[in-house]
Amino acid sequence: MSYNLLKGKRGIVFGALNEQSIAWKIAERAVEEGATITLSNTPVAVRMGDISTLGDKLHCEVIPADATNVEELTNVFTRSMDILGGKIDFLLHSIGMSPNVRKRRTYDDLDYDMLNKTLDISAISFHKMIQVAKNLDAMAEYGSIVALTYVAAQRTFYGYNDMADAKALLESIARSFGYIYGRDHSVRINTLSQSPTMTTAGSGVKGIDKLFDFADRMSPLGNASAEECADYCITLFSDLTRKVTMQNLYHDGGFSSIGMSLRAMGMYEKGFNLDDYKNEAGNVVYG
Ligand SMILES: NC(=O)c1ccc[n+]([C@@H]2O[C@H](COP(=O)([O-])OP(=O)(O)OC[C@H]3O[C@@H](n4cnc5c(N)ncnc54)[C@H](O)[C@@H]3O)[C@@H](O)[C@H]2O)c1
Repeated sequence: MSYNLLKGKRGIVFGALNEQSIAWKIAERAVEEGATITLSNTPVAVRMGDISTLGDKLHCEVIPADATNVEELTNVFTRSMDILGGKIDFLLHSIGMSPNVRKRRTYDDLDYDMLNKTLDISAISFHKMIQVAKNLDAMAEYGSIVALTYVAAQRTFYGYNDMADAKALLESIARSFGYIYGRDHSVRINTLSQSPTMTTAGSGVKGIDKLFDFADRMSPLGNASAEECADYCITLFSDLTRKVTMQNLYHDGGFSSIGMSLRAMGMYEKGFNLDDYKNEAGNVVYG
């Protein structure tokens, strides 16, 4: 159902890879709500992923860019303003990747080149995006910038690894730049902290199926789906939230405020054995 909340607004959506991607659902909802948008992802993702299918479906252009590359980001903003015919009203950063997680390096055995990549792709790219937008004066007054994050920025989750540090930095960038961009151009910047969601990036997290079930049992409203995340995101892009900025907003069915729920307690695994999680050398694998 459409409420026309984004009628006449222009947006850029970074990070739709396939139909499971949260950014995919957000792009669909944004267009349904009346926005015109451009899409962006890495050149490899554009070649290998399904984003051109989404572009065809939504009648919008796909502009390839590595979000760690300032020149390529500049091209995305310049072209988007050209194609959409004016300044940008909303921007979604839905990007995350950790080479350490991919290579199964544990948090106490990080490869530092990989850590730099994790931080650059998953957090500093957000700063780069906003700085490029500000330098180009690309955002409209009361424009809205949103990045997706996870509660592991506040609390430690087994297996989330250096992505937790990246998310903490991402949320800090939203506050630091939120002050400057709000003060200078009334642009708002927030992070949306989403429930575990079955996506390509999500499935990189160790034991995502168990984490998904645990979070679902802990949350009084259950996990929030990607579609529900899109609904919430649309309100943040809309004029209904013009004074919300510099916030980390939980969209997690209540998970972030609960200590223990009856449904989760009921599943408490008495037979748990840490040895099942160790390798031959006796180290806990992939912690
Ligand atoms: N899935 C979850 O459980 C969950 C929960 C909370 C937050 N998030 C966050 O949501 C966001 C979207 O992830 P998703 O779950 O939809 O998975 P996804 O795999 O569909 O999306 C991740 C995207 O990042 C893109 N990307 C990777 N490196 C990039 C680069 N250098 N430049 C530009 N784009 C790059 C990928 O191509 C992909 O489109 C991420 O920030 C993720 O951390 C996910």
